[in-house]
Amino acid sequence: MRVWADDARRAGRRIGFVPTMGFLHEGHLTLVREARSRCDACVVSIFVNPLQFGPGEDLDRYPRDEQGDKAKLEAEGVEVLYSPTGDSMYGAGFQTAVSVTEVTKGLCGAGRPGHFDGVTTVVAKLFNAVRPDEAVFGEKDYQQLATIRRLVVDLDLGIAIVGVPIVREADGLAMSSRNAYLSEDEREAALALSRSLSEARRALRSGERETAVLIDRVRAVLATEPLLQVEYTEIVDADSIQPVDRIDKSARLALAVHVGNTRLIDNTLLAAA
Ligand code: PAF
Repeated sequence: MRVWADDARRAGRRIGFVPTMGFLHEGHLTLVREARSRCDACVVSIFVNPLQFGPGEDLDRYPRDEQGDKAKLEAEGVEVLYSPTGDSMYGAGFQTAVSVTEVTKGLCGAGRPGHFDGVTTVVAKLFNAVRPDEAVFGEKDYQQLATIRRLVVDLDLGIAIVGVPIVREADGLAMSSRNAYLSEDEREAALALSRSLSEARRALRSGERETAVLIDRVRAVLATEPLLQVEYTEIVDADSIQPVDRIDKSARLALAVHVGNTRLIDNTLLAAA
């Protein structure tokens, strides 16, 4: 990977990078198109990173489709698919962690201890292998995006981080590889996530600025689906990911919900008028 990237850079080509865990859907392909439109060469990595899964999470059943992924990337004109093995990523004696401490504390970081250290450690390693000019991440994992932005600034990595809006199914469900786990009933229930976000945007448009009230509205929508178990619904500052009491400038409403054995996340911008 390093040799190819060094050659590409020597040839004056700017490298766009999309890190993924595979089982690619339209959301990932949107990131790929963004990277291709911004840079001369596009690298996509596929690596299901064991470090970012906690005990009892879905590492063993995480969906995979190597051939399908390869075909999709070829069809998009991606030049390089980088898929390192677990051993080459974390060889014997591996013991280093890259940790972004504050942005990762709340939201998913609270419910998944160690998750973001796993993400930042692997992303630092991937960045080091690819050394891209730009890297593209989805806003669906909004806290992850904020964390990577912090990582790049704090470690002077000199990589432009590009966030891409969430891609949704026609009925509003945010695209995710984990949607493959949902039964028909669970998928139907999961539509309440995007409905609840729309409800908050509607309330904000009609003048409601108090986050406690907006969160009550969100929870009321989620409560209409007995199959859903809410992990968190919070409104946070878009950069620091710290909770805010009022929407005085743009904020992010984020939620995590369990549907059966599947954990889903979603979020939306709440833009103060
Ligand atoms: O968003 C993901 O798919 C993963 O967290 C990432 C960024 C590829 C790191 O493993």
